Amino acid sequence: MRHFLTLRDFSKEEILEMIALGQKIKAQTKKKQYVPYMEHQTLAMIFEKNSTRTRVSFETGIYQLGGVGLFLSSNDIQLGRGEPMRDTARVISRMVDMVMIRTYSQSKLDEFAAYSKVPVINGLTDEYHPVQLMADYLTMLESGKGDNPVCAYIGDGNNMAHSWLMLASKLGFELRIATPKGYECDASIIADAMEFAKESGAKITISNDPAEAVIDADVVTTDTWVSMGQEDEKEKRVAAFSGYIVDDAMMQRAKKDAIFLHCLPAYRGYEVSESVLEAHAETVFTEAENRLHAQKGVMVWLDQNR
Ligand code: CP
Ligand code: NVA
Repeated sequence: MRHFLTLRDFSKEEILEMIALGQKIKAQTKKKQYVPYMEHQTLAMIFEKNSTRTRVSFETGIYQLGGVGLFLSSNDIQLGRGEPMRDTARVISRMVDMVMIRTYSQSKLDEFAAYSKVPVINGLTDEYHPVQLMADYLTMLESGKGDNPVCAYIGDGNNMAHSWLMLASKLGFELRIATPKGYECDASIIADAMEFAKESGAKITISNDPAEAVIDADVVTTDTWVSMGQEDEKEKRVAAFSGYIVDDAMMQRAKKDAIFLHCLPAYRGYEVSESVLEAHAETVFTEAENRLHAQKGVMVWLDQNR
């Protein structure tokens, strides 16, 4: 049995298998062919943080696969009153077929997975957001940017940046990350990505220079400067990230046909300008829709690899 906790746990071939499954299921869904790959199965969805996309895409996704989703906010279950993660895992995993969790530290997710009898999916932690990257890569493929793209991530060295590091280093494409000083990616995650890159041929560069990082990029991406749980740091962060907005001037340095990706929610006037977000709205909202399809690929793959 496999869990989907970070992309580091998967080979390039496995990631591409899941993406291909997602593409196949997307095509079927578009033709209203709802193939019951996971008939009668239940997906428990535990949320310790807010969500729009993750909640709706997983709940709709499991339904389209013939199963049912259980939305469990930590405020409503005993986890929120202090029942340990490991006991929650031992109870829930005896009743359901798969679990998705959105939580704070990766170690809480790892603890759940260690005690779970069923596959566990990371629906975002402070360290990683791997399901988002599956949707992002599907969107890149559909936009003709799947083949050896040069990607530039501008902004916070957070869960999204870490997940881009894992995707690029596993699949073998070029990734340039530019963050302000003091907001760099975790050094050990960079080191791991560099190790994976030796095998895959990925070129990874880390800098504090966004203008340089976007030159001739095929894909430009960013994320909020204030992630969930960092609300108290907003003022300090907004000051530190000055110069990191992806605006028209920044996009003009990328390739003419470059795409812009954003996991959403977007904060216009901070990490991205209104004009860039609206100019690339079709891609960005396809990216959001692709959460639904890419995650069906992940769920079916995990089910088939029990
Ligand atoms: N991108 C993303 O995960 O969105 P939500 O926080 O709305 O789930
Ligand atoms: N980095 C953001 C991603 C939201 C989908 C956060 O963790 O809040």
